[in-house]
Amino acid sequence: MSGNFKYELLKRLQAAGNEPLSGQQIADELNISRTAIWKHINQLKEEGYEIETIRKKGYILKQAANNLDPAKIKALLETTHFGHTIFYEEVLDSTQPTAHRLAQEGAKEGTLVICEEQTAGRGRMMREWQSQKGKGIWMSVILRPDVPTHKAPQFTLVAAVAVARGIEDVTGVRPAIKWPNDLLINGLKCTGILTEMQSEPDLVNALIMGIGINVNHEQQDFPEEIQGIATSLKLQAGKEIDRAELTARILFYLERYSAEYVIEGFENIKKQWESYSCTLGQRIKATTLRDVLIGEAVEITDDGVLKIKLDNGEIKGVYSADISLEP
Ligand code: BTN
Repeated sequence: MSGNFKYELLKRLQAAGNEPLSGQQIADELNISRTAIWKHINQLKEEGYEIETIRKKGYILKQAANNLDPAKIKALLETTHFGHTIFYEEVLDSTQPTAHRLAQEGAKEGTLVICEEQTAGRGRMMREWQSQKGKGIWMSVILRPDVPTHKAPQFTLVAAVAVARGIEDVTGVRPAIKWPNDLLINGLKCTGILTEMQSEPDLVNALIMGIGINVNHEQQDFPEEIQGIATSLKLQAGKEIDRAELTARILFYLERYSAEYVIEGFENIKKQWESYSCTLGQRIKATTLRDVLIGEAVEITDDGVLKIKLDNGEIKGVYSADISLEP
């Protein structure tokens, strides 16, 4: 079934909710025969969609398949352009290099690269990022904000707020943000964000926003070395989470907050970030490439810098660091 056609069908089924959608109506709207509709419905069922047929009335979508099918993500989108172009592969080494290549080739803002499994997923500070098949959301989004390069680091915080709100809406669980952009639930990491930039000397060409979310992992799905520090949304919310729905929700907030930051500035996003933060007010150890700083995390600035009050009273700012809590 062509992606576009599937998208049109799923969009109508989703919009109809619990009301049966008549096969004749869909056939008329899409200008194909009722038999063709019936075949497409059967194909959706084979893909894992649970669809009830009510005689003489039509079809009801009872349960969507929990996959990252671009047609399904698009049918759930509430954005003006984010996610309207989707590059989907079942397996990629990492979504980041693919998104970089697409951005260099001129891909539009909001282009999404997403896959079911990454064989060489990467995290911040050259770390490896475990990306098991069918369990998480492994995605990169291309942003093209019209801002000078010094305004780029704040997008990491914009992304953290967008993902936190998306998770909260879809799972009912409120994550905490550990500066700059790890999302934790009950102190365990469920999401990491890796922001990379393509730029001219002073102008951002593209930001590649890599987002990795542990969604439907069971405890034993995590490798031993991260057991005890990692968690999934399913483990924390106590229910399976629809990955396409969460992807669409995050794109909604990413579109909204990135535009807001460019047009109105950082103030509102900063407030939201602070309301999710589990770093501010804590005694922390910040390990940067050059230093280890120990003190109280006092504020983030309008540039996204974390200010730390050292034990001697001196205030230092860090742009990027690994943060841990200090007793
Ligand atoms: C971190 O916490 O260290 C950041 C992890 C970022 C992981 C995501 S998954 C999608 C995208 N592709 C990658 O290879 N990495 C990012």
